[in-house]
Amino acid sequence: MKINHIEYKQRNMKIWNEIAPRYHKRWASINQGPFQSTSKLVELVNVSKGNTVLDLACGTGVVTKKICNMVGKSGYVVGADTSIIALKIAKKWNESKSNLNFINIDAEKFTFSYEFDVVTCQYALFFFPNAQKALKNIKNSLKKKGTLGISVHGHKNKVPFFSNISDAITKFIPDYVPPGSPNMDRFGIKSALYNEVRKVGFSKISIKDFTFNYSPGKFEEYWLNYLKYIPKPLKDKLQLLGSIKRKELRQAVKVNTIPYTKKNGVIVFPWQVLILTAKK
Ligand SMILES: C[S@@+](CC[C@H](N)C(=O)[O-])C[C@H]1O[C@@H](n2cnc3c(N)ncnc32)[C@H](O)[C@@H]1O
Repeated sequence: MKINHIEYKQRNMKIWNEIAPRYHKRWASINQGPFQSTSKLVELVNVSKGNTVLDLACGTGVVTKKICNMVGKSGYVVGADTSIIALKIAKKWNESKSNLNFINIDAEKFTFSYEFDVVTCQYALFFFPNAQKALKNIKNSLKKKGTLGISVHGHKNKVPFFSNISDAITKFIPDYVPPGSPNMDRFGIKSALYNEVRKVGFSKISIKDFTFNYSPGKFEEYWLNYLKYIPKPLKDKLQLLGSIKRKELRQAVKVNTIPYTKKNGVIVFPWQVLILTAKK
């Protein structure tokens, strides 16, 4: 089943507007979870003083901030996102600088009147229903031999933090996310990511994988944090499930975490991230 791209993006925008403050507090601002690999992305794109950089789908501006510090006053950085709330946080967190600008644009619909040395895009490519369109826009916005850097989460089997819950939930609530929505791990295998970027004509594509550990605490903490941080449309669906089914669901998630639970009850998940770099 194909999803309507406009409706999907509007829903996504609404969700990111709701969760951006929690996302920033829980992960982004303190380099937790997937942000453990952010410095690797920044290192791999090789940003130099004086560079112009676009951080696409910048969210609350974590990559943007790191890059801004590297390009110095002679460089220029643009952070771009569709969530106005994420952009608001990004602006506040980055403080006003003459060489930094945040703008509200859709990755599938943008052009610039100037070109960038580097474009970064961390944990967002899988949200673009037409990733080819976004990648073409990126390519058109890069200088000759400009550099692209993309981070994505690995395949769901390599990121049990997500799949331990999502595998169980989709058994209880098959339409938990609207049918036909792009899968979050659709570029989580090297060949899929490579092919998507290659199709647009990028060259010198290199993909590195990083696996780090992340502990969400004991099961109770993992589950309660999940319930605390999910967006409202998903919370509503869980509510509709009823208390007996919700208990069964909780148990199913708990069973999934067993292989990652240490003797003291603390869960330690591996978390794989793929980082791609390429040249225009
Ligand atoms: C997981 S967050 C990553 C944010 C940021 N790159 C980071 O690493 O903190 C995904 C971001 O993609 C943004 N996003 C989703 N679809 C988008 C689109 N079509 N164009 C631009 N941004 C989009 C969301 O608003 C959200 O801020």
